[in-house]
Amino acid sequence: MNMRGKNAIITGGGRGLGRAVALVLANEGVNVAITGRNEENLKTTVDEIQKLGVKAEYAVFSMDNEGSVKEGITSLVERLGGIDILVNNAGIGDFGSIEEMSSETWEQVIKTNLFGVYYAAKAVYPFMKANNEGDIVNVASTAGLKGGPNMSAYAASKAAVISLSQSMMAEWRKQNIRVITLTPSTIASDMSIQGGLTDGNPDKVLQPEDFAEWVRDILKMNRRALIANGSIFSTNP
Ligand SMILES: NC(=O)c1ccc[n+]([C@@H]2O[C@H](COP(=O)([O-])OP(=O)(O)OC[C@H]3O[C@@H](n4cnc5c(N)ncnc54)[C@H](OP(=O)(O)O)[C@@H]3O)[C@@H](O)[C@H]2O)c1
Repeated sequence: MNMRGKNAIITGGGRGLGRAVALVLANEGVNVAITGRNEENLKTTVDEIQKLGVKAEYAVFSMDNEGSVKEGITSLVERLGGIDILVNNAGIGDFGSIEEMSSETWEQVIKTNLFGVYYAAKAVYPFMKANNEGDIVNVASTAGLKGGPNMSAYAASKAAVISLSQSMMAEWRKQNIRVITLTPSTIASDMSIQGGLTDGNPDKVLQPEDFAEWVRDILKMNRRALIANGSIFSTNP
């Protein structure tokens, strides 16, 4: 499918996986709006997107507040002139034992990773419903498929995103909205390198552009085809 002229919002688009997706979609001729908390990163990425000849917008808000998410998303839809694609990518990876992690941190991970996805999807749904078409990519993680030590909050948040996304898919496919649940394994980024999950060696470890090309290819499938869920791994990290 040709994506030229479509409009996409990518949460957490100022760096990491979200930035890579923004640039790859812009290369396909998609107008892109990105969100995040760090305005400097957003501005730099918007400049890079504009150089690819498409419209680029940004909004600064935190995913853990429903009012801010709704206001920010609605303003971006207006500035883009419509919405075809939402990539629910923003997330935090706080790691630590159940005993040592504070309840506040635990709650913040759930608020950002789970509620953020819910708030953003809920904000775009009325527009997609009115169009009777749309694509929503929810970025979960292999951590959501199986919990492990020192990742209780992150794994629980991502397990809940998988479940939320499956319910969304079942409800919204009736409006021709494709809801795609992704469970990537470790990819080189601030989150995974600073979290000590990988050294990010590009000879072996998945890079943000691998993830972005995968998202692009899924979205380019004919509209009658829905890749409901998928995982991606480094071949031999
Ligand atoms: N990297 C991996 O190995 C991996 C594997 C599986 C799944 N994932 C998932 O992929 C997504 C992207 O991860 P990444 O590796 O690119 O992480 P990253 O480099 O740490 O980037 C996180 C992104 O999320 C945004 N963000 C975080 N908290 C936010 C908040 N409260 N409000 C608004 N934006 C917020 C950040 O923007 P600001 O800094 O501007 O706030 C940033 O753009 C996450 O959902 C992550 O869980 C990553």
